[in-house]
This record gives sequence, C-alpha cells and structure tokens, in this order.
Amino acid sequence: MTTDTALLDFTITPNAHPMAEADRLTAFENLGFGTLFTDHMTVIQWDIDKGWHSAEVKARAPFQIDPAASVLHYAQEIFEGMKAYRTPDGRITLFRPEENARRFNKSAARMAMPDVPEELFLKAVEELVKIDAKWVPEGEGSLYLRPFMFASETFLGVRPSRQYIFCVIASPVGPYFKGGGKPVTLWVSEDFTRAGPGGTGAAKCGGNYAGSLLAQAEATKRGCDQVVFLDAAEHRWVEELGGMNVFFVMNDGTIVTPPLAGTILPGITRASIIKLATENGLNVVERPYSFEEWQNDATSGKLREAFACGTAAVVAAIGTVRHAGGEFVIGNAGTGMETEKLRNQLTGIQRGTVADSHGWVKDVTLA
Ligand code: PLP
Ligand code: COI
Repeated sequence: MTTDTALLDFTITPNAHPMAEADRLTAFENLGFGTLFTDHMTVIQWDIDKGWHSAEVKARAPFQIDPAASVLHYAQEIFEGMKAYRTPDGRITLFRPEENARRFNKSAARMAMPDVPEELFLKAVEELVKIDAKWVPEGEGSLYLRPFMFASETFLGVRPSRQYIFCVIASPVGPYFKGGGKPVTLWVSEDFTRAGPGGTGAAKCGGNYAGSLLAQAEATKRGCDQVVFLDAAEHRWVEELGGMNVFFVMNDGTIVTPPLAGTILPGITRASIIKLATENGLNVVERPYSFEEWQNDATSGKLREAFACGTAAVVAAIGTVRHAGGEFVIGNAGTGMETEKLRNQLTGIQRGTVADSHGWVKDVTLA
C-alpha cells in the first residue's frame, strides 16, 4: 500500500509540562546512556486500509496498547539508533540520517512490516529534534534518537499485523560505556549465538537483542563490557558484538572486518570507518576472521589494535578479550594510533570540527 506522505501533515502539540530548565541542566551534568528523555515524541499510525496517517508530535507519554497486541506475543518490532549533535557554531546536525531510514526499511521488509517512506521517517525525526532542540547537549554529549515501529493489532493469530505504530523518542546521552573512553574488555560467547543464515541478524529488530541478553549478562558477570558473537554454523568466525561492529588493525596497514553476509548488522559507523580508513591509505579487507586467528594474531603481535564501533559506542578501543579458556591483551592494551585517528576523524565530522567532504552531515533547520 502506498501513501502520499507529502499530504501527511504533522499535528504539533507542545508539552504543557516540560521539564524545568534548571532540572534539565542539572541532568546534563552527568549524562549516561538512555535514562533521561526529552519532553516530546513523534507518533504515526499505520493500518492496512489507510496506510500512514495521524502524524503527531506531542508530549512523551506511555502508550495504551491491548494485552493482545501482537508485538507483545510475536515481537514484530524494529528500531534505529542515530544522533543529533550541537556544533560549536550553533547548528544542530544529523549524521547520515537517510542511511538509518534505508536500513529501517530493510529491517521492516525482513519483519513483514510496512515501509516507512524515507521522507516521512526523516520528517518524523527532524520534527522531534526541532521541538526538543534545547535537549541537544553541547560538548561531548549528543541527542540519541530512537525511531521504532511495532505491531499494534489486537490479534493472536500468527501472521503480520494489520496495524503498526511508528514512534521516535529522544534521549540526551554521554558515553555508552561506564569507563568513558577507556579501552573495553570483551567476552567471547562460544555457546550462545546471535543470528544464523537466513535469520534476522541483519535486521535491527528487538528480538535479536532479546536473544543476546543472556550472553551479555554472562559477559557482565565476567567483568566484561560487551559480548562478542561467533557464527552460528561453526562457532568459529567472529561476527560482531551485542550492539556494535568490530575492526582489527594489523601491523602491515591492513584493517580487517567481518563481511556483511546476512548475519550481522550493516553498521552505518562501520561503512563510514571503511571509507575513512581507505582514504587514510589503509587496506580495508572485509573477510571472515576466526577466533583462533584473532588469538594467534594478538599473541604474535601481528594484531596491533582492535576496536568496536556503532552509533551509541562511537569508536571504542578493545583492550582485553576474555573467553572460557583464558584471556589475551591486544597490542598496547587498547591505546592504538589508528583507532584514535579514525575516532577523531569520525567524531570531528559528526560534530562539525572536521570538514565533511562526503556530504554525511545534514543540518536540522530549526526555524
Ligand atoms: N551491530 C549491532 C548489533 C548494533 O546494535 C549496532 C548499533 O546500532 C551496530 C552494529 C552498529 O550500527 P551503527 O553503526 O549503524 O549504529
Ligand atoms: C546503537 O548504537 O544505536 C544501538 O542501537 C546499539 C545499542 C548498544 C544501544
């Protein structure tokens, strides 16, 4: 079903009880990840007869959904993660937002959900950023945006829902990891896998994360920041972390990252790093990399650096890797030059302090 979204007007109703300025500024002094939320949300409804309709920006509030809403039973839900930044010259920007819109629709297609036209997705995000502009922190912080869609039909049969809610919420954030910029420690899960061939690994659906939580809890129990998943077929090849992609920097100027073979999320940060690293003269190789090779390369010194990357985590150096059989340290325990260079380039572009020669940054027009 197609919808002429150009005709879809957004009804904008400002929150009558926004957070007091003083309270917001106090909260900004100690930003963590995902616990503080802005005053508003965008909500758009879809049903099989009308398509997308009733677009609203309004006070952030709980949903009322029926206990039989199909998302609560069959987990038909997808989401995105993106950030708005405040630049030193006072602009508010988004980083490659159309890539999030495209990936959202790929996730939607995999989960048998309706397409959200790209311009509608972008408008929903931008309207929220505009009304909550004062919530975009300065300096190191950013406004994390979480567009998501779920099946809202009241129906227990197992088939795609005929009603959906698309929503965008926003959360001012600081560093994802508690240690701030300190190198992270990883736990390699050799029993639990995240995604199999033909499954939903390349989609950003809630179910993938539900399935990762036990492995992540195990990582936390072992004193690690993130879990690393190996492939489901052989439990041999490194895939990705619970919420980020992974790169390996070798001593010969090669940088290796697992290929997009359908079981890992095609990260927008990953794609941006591949581009920047290639322009920096590194030889970027997308190829399967085994856990065994990882251990051998770290031990021999061939592997100089490794890092995790994603919207929430940005670029995080990996220091130590633990697994059932022991642990190993990478290079200089996670203080690598290439990692730092790529992080500075990427965050500089995102924050408007490094020239954006790729056209990745989009200004949000506040007026
Ligand atoms: N892999 C997983 C499982 C993720 O949740 C994320 C975060 O969104 C990523 C990779 C990185 O994707 P992106 O760089 O688009 O944020
Ligand atoms: C993101 O980086 O946007 C994610 O969704 C990953 C999650 C760890 C918050």
